[in-house]
Amino acid sequence: MKMKKLTALLLASLTALAMTACGGTPAAGDNAGSADNSSAESGAEGSSAEDSSPEDNDSSEESAAGEGSSEGNDGSAEGEGTEASGEAEGSEAPPAESFTTAVEGKLTMATNAAFPPYEYVEGGQIAGIDAEIAAAIAGKLGLELQIDDMEFDSITEAVKGGKADIGLAGMTITPDRQEEVDFTVSYATGVQVIIVKEDSAITSVDDLLAEGANHVVGVQRNTTGHLYTTDDIEKAGLGTIDPYSKGAEAVQALKTGKVDCVVIDNEPAKAFVNEVEGLKILDTEYITEDYAAAMSKSNPALYEAVNAALEELIADGTVQGIIDKYITAE
Ligand code: ARG
Repeated sequence: MKMKKLTALLLASLTALAMTACGGTPAAGDNAGSADNSSAESGAEGSSAEDSSPEDNDSSEESAAGEGSSEGNDGSAEGEGTEASGEAEGSEAPPAESFTTAVEGKLTMATNAAFPPYEYVEGGQIAGIDAEIAAAIAGKLGLELQIDDMEFDSITEAVKGGKADIGLAGMTITPDRQEEVDFTVSYATGVQVIIVKEDSAITSVDDLLAEGANHVVGVQRNTTGHLYTTDDIEKAGLGTIDPYSKGAEAVQALKTGKVDCVVIDNEPAKAFVNEVEGLKILDTEYITEDYAAAMSKSNPALYEAVNAALEELIADGTVQGIIDKYITAE
């Protein structure tokens, strides 16, 4: 069972890579980024990791909105056109990198900001690895970043329906999700781990999957932790799953004894365990996964531009620089 999923995930990542490899309009975003868009703030100079520290991250809804200096900027190099549609008459073909976004001049990111260190609310702003990566992508594309916070299981719909341009939420590439959305190249790895009370009888993944096991497992709703434990534990008759809207709520339920353990991604697990006394993360890992940005299948031009920008940010070390600011290697 476990192996099957690992293979599926591997396949999923390979597909994402393959799609990337075929998609090459190299540096598609660079020209677009040259449009005189002074409102891009944290995004505009986002290609250097030092530029946007968590403290001065301007990418929250509050600070990103309302500085409408990007009139007529459809992300193309010809941003000065006042015809907002960008469908200029005349003989010139549109630039190869032209794309449309949910809100003109903006890159709208859907996330669930309850997943530190990838996304969390700090001082009324959304900070974290994903917020900074999105700011860097927006900067390359000459767009202003706007972040919309929502339930994790609403992100795919927001992207599918074109309300958001990009779902960036520590989201794992899975075959089921690939039916709904296109994933960019993967920018990080996650591991599903198990949080227990310090004195728990559960000492490994095997204890959860052992014959006769009967545990209550807390998860964040519709995350991969939820999906896998539903298959491996609930459907196998080895216990029940108790889904919560936020990972931190599942962890509170563990603290108060409502659940026996929590299955969740390793980095938020560390953040939550640091906040709550008497909990620990088991050494054994449940499953390893790849994180990527989710995008609509029906906006290929934007997909190409975002994916190319992300590839550049990975290649030049910007993404690793951002990750290293938040995650210290043990
Ligand atoms: N990696 C897991 C998944 O894709 C959990 C992601 C949860 N992210 C969040 N921002 N709450 O299902």
